[in-house]
Amino acid sequence: MENRAQWGTRAGFILAAVGSAIGLGNIWRFPAVAYENGGGAFFIPYLFALLTAGIPLLVMEFTIGHKFKGSAPLSFFRMNKKTEWLGWWAVLVSFVISTYYAVIIAWAISYSIFSFNLSWGDDTEGFLFNNYLQLSVDPGQTGSLVPGVLIPLLIVWVITLGVLFKGVKKGIEVANKIFIPTLVVLFLIIVIRAITLPGAAEGLQTFFAPNFEAITDSSVWVAAYGQIFFSLSIAFAIMITYSSYLPKKSDLTNNAFIAGFGNSSFELLAGIGVFGALGFMASQSNVPVSEVVSGGVGLAFVVFPQIINEFPALNGLFGFLFFASLVLAGLSSLISISETYVAGFSEKFGLSRKAAVGFGGGLAAIISLLFATQGGLFFLDAADYFINQFGVAFIGLVEVVVIAWFLHNLSDFQAHANGISDIRLGGWWKICLGVITPIVLGFMMFDLFKTNLLKQFDTETGNYEGYTDGFILYGGWFVAAFAIIVGFLMTLKRWDAKAVDEVKKEVG
Ligand code: PHE
Repeated sequence: MENRAQWGTRAGFILAAVGSAIGLGNIWRFPAVAYENGGGAFFIPYLFALLTAGIPLLVMEFTIGHKFKGSAPLSFFRMNKKTEWLGWWAVLVSFVISTYYAVIIAWAISYSIFSFNLSWGDDTEGFLFNNYLQLSVDPGQTGSLVPGVLIPLLIVWVITLGVLFKGVKKGIEVANKIFIPTLVVLFLIIVIRAITLPGAAEGLQTFFAPNFEAITDSSVWVAAYGQIFFSLSIAFAIMITYSSYLPKKSDLTNNAFIAGFGNSSFELLAGIGVFGALGFMASQSNVPVSEVVSGGVGLAFVVFPQIINEFPALNGLFGFLFFASLVLAGLSSLISISETYVAGFSEKFGLSRKAAVGFGGGLAAIISLLFATQGGLFFLDAADYFINQFGVAFIGLVEVVVIAWFLHNLSDFQAHANGISDIRLGGWWKICLGVITPIVLGFMMFDLFKTNLLKQFDTETGNYEGYTDGFILYGGWFVAAFAIIVGFLMTLKRWDAKAVDEVKKEVG
């Protein structure tokens, strides 16, 4: 087994972390979440969540990865033998995410090509569901594979696994150094175009108009925390894995601030671009902006094609730029999500990187075929809904509670980070992680269980309309049970002695 891989440069690590953070969540999740939860006023809970949970947790995960130099399960194992399962949970949730995240990137590849001759026509919704996804079965049935999705999906996996195959420095770092600057340039072009379209001003006004009453509502705070977790890729094993490849001398705290603010800046930019474009669309069809707001699949693949249709000029080009941005943002995140299990499997079973990519990535690719079938969208919705609602914050909550309350590791981590970082962590850091974050996340979980599990399962919004009651719920519990059972089974197997030893020598 080779010595542990390392990033080539500090910028390489930061770009990879930012590349992981900036994903579909920034582009199609944030604008709608912010708008629905108080508009301009949402920035108060959002910033609060970023500063009290997002960045402090990022610092903590960077420290864990750097200190224990292992994939998430190995790092948790080294922290305390009894906490290895926590690392596997996060890895397995990431595994599930990777199987459907890849499919959405595949759609975006198709759509970037459709852009050139606006193949989606006037009925963009009908085009997506009938022509492209060929959704003609009931939820829970697969039907046959859809070739139009399958082919780009194979491309996604070839790129992602190819990058992982090449390793940390030559693969992940190089890919992010190309993808992220390109993404920023492409996206800036779209945003500038969007805000100079007629009607954009109303769009932005609608987005930023503060509804201060909203922030007295606890669900708005819950939404802010959820967005920060999802968007920063924390509690998914990702940041621990990436920081385990940092060299000894690394400024952990500063890097966390850069990554955190970089991600939020992009998120804000996306909000401005999306609402500028929505304002334009509303003015074209003479309706209030509030009537055209959407998020998720509907925003990207139904509403955006409509907006592109209406563009005054160069429709094809702007369509391409938008979907290419989704592809780049998505790929850099998918790479990070998949690296969590590549690293975990390789250390657990003593596999070479190449074998771990082939096995882990291959398995994920095969499972992702489920979402490329005629009934794929229903399965995707079920997995995504559950991950959004529970996966996002639950592991984060368990993580901080275990570390702060049971193992009392925060002082130790604080000293570790302060020993090598410019910005010094003070008592505030421990208060954020040991008190504020567990209280808010605890409340959040309580709230979710109350509304989602005890009541009849009802979903009123977004993609989740019209399902028979149990489908999403059982799908979700299936994912949860999978993560818990497989995670537990993994802890029964011993670590590959050679893999773990080599790293120990190198650290020690
Ligand atoms: N943070 C990225 C996003 O916003 C990727 C990601 C998604 C990471 C889901 C973990 C979980 O899309």
